[in-house]
Amino acid sequence: MPRTSADSLYLTPLQLIEFTRFWADEVAHGKYPYIDYDPDERWHQRIYRDRRVDVWLISWLPTQGTQLHDHGGSAGSFTVLDGELTEAVVTGGDRLVDHRRGANESVGFGARYVHDVRNLSDAPAVSVHAYSAPLTSMNFYDLNDGRLERLATLATDDPEPEVDLGSVRRAS
Ligand SMILES: [Fe+2]
Repeated sequence: MPRTSADSLYLTPLQLIEFTRFWADEVAHGKYPYIDYDPDERWHQRIYRDRRVDVWLISWLPTQGTQLHDHGGSAGSFTVLDGELTEAVVTGGDRLVDHRRGANESVGFGARYVHDVRNLSDAPAVSVHAYSAPLTSMNFYDLNDGRLERLATLATDDPEPEVDLGSVRRAS
């Protein structure tokens, strides 16, 4: 497992990229052979946790995706293990920019990062996500007329919580 500095409890985005790449490699080499795909909700499983970081394995069927969200003050990273994901990132406070994240690509982000992640391809995708501090809450947003509007705050240690946002969806 990647070593981190002992004088800092929480990991930086670059250290988190090392983590998700390490665990993606572990999964790729069969350490976690069971990956499920659920048409009703994104299948996910925690594969590591300590006081500094938690790591999740998530599968995405085509069309599955998240609502715009942050990570409640945690920094994070994800590495695409298989397939392709599209990440929309709030940039400049009021604009969504789409980025395609293919297999073996990694993203690291700080505590104020707001994004959504979707599988817009026609094949399943698998990704490994890490959060430091370990996730304790998430905020969910919509972007309306260039303004980021918070829809809900949820106390959760699960990056795929059940949250009922009704019919609210991200503006196109
Ligand atoms: Fe996220």
